[in-house]
Amino acid sequence: MGAAKQLRDRAALLRQDLDHHNHRYYVLDDPEIDDVEYDRLFRELVQMEQEHEDLRRTDSPTQRVGAAPLPAFAEVRHRAPMLSLANAFAEDQVHAFDRRVREALGPAVLDGAVEYVADPKFDGLAISLAYRQGVFVQGATRGDGATGEDVTPNLRTVRSIPLRLPEGPDTEDLEVRGEILFYKSDFEKLNARQRQAGEKVFANPRNAAAGSLRLLDSRITAQRPLRFFAYGIGPAGIGPAGVGVAAKVHWQTHSETLDRLAALGFPVCAERRIAKGLEGLLAFYRDIETRRDQLPYAIDGVVYKVNRVDWQEKLGYVARAPRFAMAHKYPAEEQMTEVLRIEIQVGRSGVLTPVARLKPVAVGGVTVSNATLHNEDELRRKDVWPGDTVSVRRAGDVIPEVVAVRQKGARRAAERFCMPEQCPVCQSPVVRLPGEAATRCTGGLYCRAQRKQAILHFVGRRAMDIEGMGEKLVEQLVDREMLASPADLYRLDQQALAGLERMAVKSAQNVLDGIQRSRSMDLARFVFALGMPGVGEEVARILARHFGSLPALLEADWSALAARKEALRKENAKRKKNSQPLIEVPLEGIGPEIMDSVDKFVHQAHNREVIASLLDPACGVALRDSVAAKAVTKASKTFVLTGILPSMSRDEARALIESLGHKVVGAVSKKTDYVVAGDEAGGKLEQARALGIAVLDQSGLTQLLGKH
Ligand code: IVH
Repeated sequence: MGAAKQLRDRAALLRQDLDHHNHRYYVLDDPEIDDVEYDRLFRELVQMEQEHEDLRRTDSPTQRVGAAPLPAFAEVRHRAPMLSLANAFAEDQVHAFDRRVREALGPAVLDGAVEYVADPKFDGLAISLAYRQGVFVQGATRGDGATGEDVTPNLRTVRSIPLRLPEGPDTEDLEVRGEILFYKSDFEKLNARQRQAGEKVFANPRNAAAGSLRLLDSRITAQRPLRFFAYGIGPAGIGPAGVGVAAKVHWQTHSETLDRLAALGFPVCAERRIAKGLEGLLAFYRDIETRRDQLPYAIDGVVYKVNRVDWQEKLGYVARAPRFAMAHKYPAEEQMTEVLRIEIQVGRSGVLTPVARLKPVAVGGVTVSNATLHNEDELRRKDVWPGDTVSVRRAGDVIPEVVAVRQKGARRAAERFCMPEQCPVCQSPVVRLPGEAATRCTGGLYCRAQRKQAILHFVGRRAMDIEGMGEKLVEQLVDREMLASPADLYRLDQQALAGLERMAVKSAQNVLDGIQRSRSMDLARFVFALGMPGVGEEVARILARHFGSLPALLEADWSALAARKEALRKENAKRKKNSQPLIEVPLEGIGPEIMDSVDKFVHQAHNREVIASLLDPACGVALRDSVAAKAVTKASKTFVLTGILPSMSRDEARALIESLGHKVVGAVSKKTDYVVAGDEAGGKLEQARALGIAVLDQSGLTQLLGKH
């Protein structure tokens, strides 16, 4: 035997062994060898691949350590859209689902019990994995359902995803779909590690999974113990005879599909059951509910699917969800714990929020040690005292909240919570305006807490988008009095950053590069970044479009504008009665409160100073005036976007339309010129048809705009 063949065989054997042990460890949770032995095999293979280029393979277990960072993710168009599920929150909705299924399947089934497959609804992220000739070739996120991101290098690092499958007719062209998630325990460890390193701490396992999956540097993903569960297959490739490849292997039921995926080496949830009829479904729901806490991963419900594939096909799809499946959700989880103290947090706009510091308790897979009490009235209504035992709720991404007192504590009068009269951060007086629930600090940017939040908002992704300028860094800079206002960001240099904690020369340079990039900014984002009360992204866009430039916005005569709006509105009401054409009202969508807020903000001396210094050559922020304002003339058209476009995000379509001076609005009305509809378009498309408005698809849109 030649030496080369001997090497090849040895490498193949090592790969096979390592795959086998990976599967035992990560999928079956039943290892046969210890870590030391595994490492020995692993290092032997690494060395062989290093020494002999021809032995390297993309499906080798050594590839799980991550690859060089990508500049950006490529887009992947899904062969068939990745859909969502209809939700049920109450038993009668499940009842109705089962009845619809039976009715749709016809008289033979109507009175029988339909066979379903039930499994937990994982609280993670949907992904799709493509295998060709048994080799993992591409993995993608769900994205908007039609198009996702190519995260193949990241998914290669997930140990429970097989990199190669046994060869056979069903693995020639196979798309497996499932969920990426963190085990609760791994999530806690990850957060502890992040906290220690001064890095971002994740709100919940789902966010952590999303963040880890979308890292451009897969070597970091490799250090995050992501897990995978397969729950189905995508459409099979179309074989030579026009027949789906998976169809060739006769997976006639969903349960067979899952069993086959498990046999191929995929992790498939052990809790899955075949459930007969409505009774079976509800029994499964209750059973999982009692064991929800003990499951190693977070779930937010269970999923029911009709088992027979031919019946699934017969039932088909409505809008964006299959008719043959349903998610049955659990109520947001609540747990009891003790209130240690009640403290005040000061937010960006100076609002003082009472927060209960709690004895840490696990709620829905996350350790909760703080919960909001919202405001003074809520706190009084719930009558929460330090030492009370309370129930705490957490639903999805929302901040945990105190639901109610379950058992009163000692309640010593001296410990009764009172709203302070001074801001606990800057000692400025606080005010509570009549009719408002919120108590506010009057310190403005003088208040460190407000300054930190204001600057974090300013640098945020949807505002000035200064990469690398995170919470820890802003905190340090504010605490060291290096940032008195956002303008000071543009006075930072290497030397200033070098003295900070965890700031190497390279990371300092990255931050400075981010700052430099943000110097050229469009008006709408800049207006949003200023953080005026009531001015979100949409309002900022309307302002930018109307005024076209910052000086115009700063010099606006707001009372004249308000008067003109009022007059036009009255005029329009008259015209409407007489069925006359209406006049366009300026700043439509912006009410008097917001106009007042903008007026106040831009006339405060301090704010004008900050804006002036930002635009001063010393800071060097240069705004691109809004082209739309000048171009919004008679020729400009009004568009409404709905549904998922094949290869453009909503934001991209909007940017394209607005860049040519047209308007995008949210609701369809008689004034709408075009409705651009993608997949899964719903009510707006129907309205457009009812009103006889022109409907375009993506290519229609690009053609139309190309012509203009
Ligand atoms: S089946 C047509 N099974 O739920 C979609 N989905 O709301 C078929 N999910 O994005 C999906 N656990 O990420 C299915 N056991 C499970 C699931 C599950 C979680 C997620 C999935 C999807 C979302 C649909």
